[in-house]
Amino acid sequence: MLYSGFSILILLLPFLLSLSVSASLEQSFLQCVSLNSQQSVPPLSVCSQNNPSFFPLLQSTAQNLRYLDPSVPKPQFIFTPLHDTHVQAAVICSKKLQIHLRVRSGGHDYEGLSYASEIETPFIVIDLAKLRSVEVNIQDNTAWVQAGATVGEVYYRISEKSNVHGFPAGLCTSLGIGGHITGGAYGSMMRKYGLGADNVIDARIVDVNGRILNRSTMGEDYFWAIRGGAGGSFGIILWWKLQLVSVPEIVTVFTVPKTLQQGATQVLYKWQQVADKLDEDLFIRVIIQVTNDKATKERTITTAYNALFLGDSNRLLQIMRKSFPELGLTPKDCIETSWIKSVLYIAGEPPKTPPEVLLQGKPQFKNYFKAKSDFVQVPIPETGLEGLWKIFLQEESPLMIWNPYGGMMSKISENEIPFPHRKGNLFKIQYVNPWQAGDKHETRHIEWIRELYNYMAPYVSKSPRAAYVNYRDLDLGMNKKDNTTLAQANEWGNKYFKNNFNRLVKVKTKVDPGNFFRHEQSIPPLASAASFRTKKSKRSPKY
Ligand SMILES: Cc1cc2nc3c(=O)[nH]c(=O)nc-3n(C[C@H](O)[C@H](O)[C@H](O)COP(=O)(O)OP(=O)(O)OC[C@H]3O[C@@H](n4cnc5c(N)ncnc54)[C@H](O)[C@@H]3O)c2cc1C
Ligand SMILES: *[C@@H]1O[C@H](CO)[C@@H](O)[C@H](O)[C@H]1NC(C)=O
Ligand SMILES: *[C@@H]1O[C@H](CO)[C@@H](O)[C@H](O)[C@H]1NC(C)=O
Repeated sequence: MLYSGFSILILLLPFLLSLSVSASLEQSFLQCVSLNSQQSVPPLSVCSQNNPSFFPLLQSTAQNLRYLDPSVPKPQFIFTPLHDTHVQAAVICSKKLQIHLRVRSGGHDYEGLSYASEIETPFIVIDLAKLRSVEVNIQDNTAWVQAGATVGEVYYRISEKSNVHGFPAGLCTSLGIGGHITGGAYGSMMRKYGLGADNVIDARIVDVNGRILNRSTMGEDYFWAIRGGAGGSFGIILWWKLQLVSVPEIVTVFTVPKTLQQGATQVLYKWQQVADKLDEDLFIRVIIQVTNDKATKERTITTAYNALFLGDSNRLLQIMRKSFPELGLTPKDCIETSWIKSVLYIAGEPPKTPPEVLLQGKPQFKNYFKAKSDFVQVPIPETGLEGLWKIFLQEESPLMIWNPYGGMMSKISENEIPFPHRKGNLFKIQYVNPWQAGDKHETRHIEWIRELYNYMAPYVSKSPRAAYVNYRDLDLGMNKKDNTTLAQANEWGNKYFKNNFNRLVKVKTKVDPGNFFRHEQSIPPLASAASFRTKKSKRSPKY
């Protein structure tokens, strides 16, 4: 009996071993998390690759479909904390079990860094989607918001308590407040109030030792770094404390399109000269796309002037007549509305959409895309614009958004927070090239945007050619798994952060010298900058 039982075991051994190798990582992680967190009710679980819910969960907030492609490495499992203490435990246990961890709030990272990794295998995802409380305190004009809440939920909860309070963060309402603010967070009130990160007054973060720190316990250097130094380098933000700003009961929005046939080039040349100097209550961005001209049926360029004015339409029309008559804004272009409804308008929701849609907390649209950014300091001449239209007309459905600076953005110094793009910038350009599933020309679409970027070099900021870190672009350079020098990291670091990069490296060296929180473009610590090494895992990746 004993003998035969033994031989069956021997026969089964390779099978049992192969099962236990992957099962044990999940189990060890869960055991460790329960041991290390104060809240273990309800029972915790992780979602592994073989679970039918794995893919729906992985894709739930993933915004760039390129990074869900089967060829892209997937996390070994996804852990969804239900309480702050589970996040602490996840850090402690990932460190103990030496598994690489990625953290996701809203999943909008342009290069999918919150849920995909080309350089680290295996890895796991800590998804903060269930940590999304928003506590608004109108008496002291503040709100404590949990990292997994979307900006739309934050706006809604503020508007629920007051129609004269707001917060100046992103235009797209499905952004996760957790990742969004770490990189700056601009929106249609930036010319009046600056960035989301400029309006953060406290935070709670889980550091590399699994402790929860706030502003006073982390210290001012650490607090400086997390407001603009970008996500995934310094710890896991659990909560942000926001300083609310005042908004008028009535605001005005408009969208005025101009095609090439309607003089788009000349109007845009004028916009470049005035957009950063207009009244701070006025934000006019330009959305530039290829469209079909209604009369000729030919492809043309449409420049749509999409605006928020913090005031009524009478005052807006006066300002426009004086400063930007070339646009020809008329009273019937102007829509007077509440601030919360202006959020829906700017986000492109159909008219009459109820604000409650903001509580869905999910992206409305997703596609495959590659994007880049630039800052412009001198108006681009009309000949430069004409060359740009030629390149645009060669591609299927490219998009650019030109975003005005000036106002409060010029008053805040370059080193107040790590986000350095302040005085001297007229506007920022975002280039996006999207495509649909099954498109065979993916490589061509990516090449196209790189060529466009080359074309723009003479017209944009130089040394460094600056970029917005929240529009993450791995073309600018990335950390290698085993060996990244500080000089290499400085290539992209300087573009995103200018002189603030060195201070970010110093803070990183102090708070995470072992480089536990890392990714393709995380801030490297000094000591390990020359050897960006992770302990080799015996587990083989499962994809
Ligand atoms: C459709 C779209 C519209 C956008 N519009 C705007 C806009 O109007 N204004 C603007 O400024 N930006 C905009 N962005 C860019 C956006 O700000 C960044 O993509 C931002 O990083 C998104 O945050 P997230 O939490 O949704 O993303 P995630 O992908 O979850 O995270 C982004 C990065 O931060 C890290 N991270 C996530 N959560 C945390 C956390 N809690 N603590 C520490 N690190 C964390 C991730 O690991 C990753 O590296 C837009 C992006 C998209 C796709
Ligand atoms: C910060 O944390 C410390 C220690 O937990 C606590 O005593 C202090 O009250 C906190 N500060 C704020 C503003 O919450
Ligand atoms: C890392 O790269 C530098 C130069 O790029 C080289 O001198 C060094 O030997 C490399 N180290 C390792 C561990 O590969």
